[in-house]
Amino acid sequence: AKPVRLALLGCGTVGTEVVRLLHEQAEDLTARIGAPLELAGIAVRRLGRERGDLPVDPALFTTDALGLIKRDDVDVVIEVVGGIEPARTWLVEALRAGKSVVTANKALLAEDGGTLHDAAAEGNADLYYEASVAGAIPLLRPMRESLHGDRVTAVTGIVNGTTNFILSSMASTGAGFNEALEEATELGYAEADPTADVEGFDAAAKAAILASLAFHTRVTAADVFREGMTGVTAGDMASAKEMGCTIKLLCIAQRTADSVSVRVHPAMIPLSHPLAGVGDAFNAVFVEAEAAGPLMFYGRGAGGRPTASAVLGDIVAAARNKLTGTRAPSESNYAELTVRPIGES
Ligand code: HSE
Repeated sequence: AKPVRLALLGCGTVGTEVVRLLHEQAEDLTARIGAPLELAGIAVRRLGRERGDLPVDPALFTTDALGLIKRDDVDVVIEVVGGIEPARTWLVEALRAGKSVVTANKALLAEDGGTLHDAAAEGNADLYYEASVAGAIPLLRPMRESLHGDRVTAVTGIVNGTTNFILSSMASTGAGFNEALEEATELGYAEADPTADVEGFDAAAKAAILASLAFHTRVTAADVFREGMTGVTAGDMASAKEMGCTIKLLCIAQRTADSVSVRVHPAMIPLSHPLAGVGDAFNAVFVEAEAAGPLMFYGRGAGGRPTASAVLGDIVAAARNKLTGTRAPSESNYAELTVRPIGES
């Protein structure tokens, strides 16, 4: 069959692993999809950076992302750049032109997901974003497909690996925040500027995406109450321990009959809670649904290869649907729920 042609926007930590997986799994992917996947181009900010070890033709690299997206021979656009602009302009362009989009961009989805969903509707195009929340963990697809016959009532999660590493290390060693952050930076878990992680912005973006999907309504990052974890001290952790608890940075999204509330803050949880044992830089999301009862999703929420695994899953879905002319399940944000600040009942 005719190859499905991919445009990759971004070739950093996740992008390079997407390229590697496409290469390593090429044969299996072709068999699973029924047609080969072919990279049409890779858009990067600067040419000439060392990418010699990547198994691709160097001629595929370009700095003209928009030009690449607009090419007639591109079927699926994969965005792993992040940030609001220029990613939003690129993805709106792709979706309006009827191309499938696979993105890991949690900031954009959380701030202005509505614009992307509207562009997808206009272009009769598919939007996939499994990699935007909790990296490798299959979470969004189960929520938007497997659980669609049920009613989700609450989502409670550890969705930031950096802060979970820091809090787990504080709990096990008795270290203070600064010392644990230093360790996380040395080991490559924390970024040079850890603000988005430790102040809870990253988790708040993911919470907004999860709440939108779980409750069929539009929740943006601005709707999420947010408190970071920089104020958690070694003394707080020791007191929690004395009470048979630990402290985790949680995202908590709850639904009542006519409202939702979504928040991110450090919380004390009993050691017997399934989320208490989630250590290292792992993520876990605890979903409660009326008929299903409690469900726990657990795995690696960050890192190039785990995140690329989720991106690849979306690419396969996009390619299959392209070939068969099937549409992905569209967003069903029909619920008229008030987003309530916490404390208001
Ligand atoms: N900084 C994020 C984390 C990366 O630590 O979880 C994954 O979104």
